[in-house]
Amino acid sequence: MSNNEVNRTRRNLILATSAFGGAGMAAAAWPFIASMSPSDKAKGLGAPVEVDISALEPGAKVVVKWRGQPVWVVYRTKEMMDGLAKVKDKLIDPESKSSKQPAYAKNALRASEKRPEILVLVGLCTHLGCSPSDKLKAVSDSETGTDWQGGFYCPCHGSRFDLAGRVYKGSPAPINLPVPPYTFLSDKRILIGEESKGA
Ligand code: FES
Repeated sequence: MSNNEVNRTRRNLILATSAFGGAGMAAAAWPFIASMSPSDKAKGLGAPVEVDISALEPGAKVVVKWRGQPVWVVYRTKEMMDGLAKVKDKLIDPESKSSKQPAYAKNALRASEKRPEILVLVGLCTHLGCSPSDKLKAVSDSETGTDWQGGFYCPCHGSRFDLAGRVYKGSPAPINLPVPPYTFLSDKRILIGEESKGA
């Protein structure tokens, strides 16, 4: 068995079967997607996590676990991506100059050019580490405020993030949500935790 084959067998293979507002898992909460391999120990040590997003629909989000952290994978629609430019003036760091992301994700969409509609974020608030709630639709309410274009709201102290994980001015969170290293193994499979292939 080659080194590549050995590495591949150690990866966690995860199927992304949930869909926002559609068929799939229950919509009450975003559960961690169960690993299909017995490599929980390797996962805890930081092994890359492989995710199959073939069942992920536009507008949907799934959560996987990597290094004990929730990692969000969001399939953004064109409307969602168009909304990012509309909120630029309301953000602390719209260019993501101070935030953590791989070099290939330091762009307006904070995503790989291979599939820019796919957003990958560590789902922990950069204030005190709560897990923000989904406010994916462009619907304003008492928490998101006016002119909301979709994103995430942290209920702990009211931080707001857009659909690229960029934090709004006035939030206690100081910086954008991190983008973890990831690479596309194919159009439908992502390896989270490894960027050696340059996304
Ligand atoms: S932990 Fe998110 S706003 Fe404080």
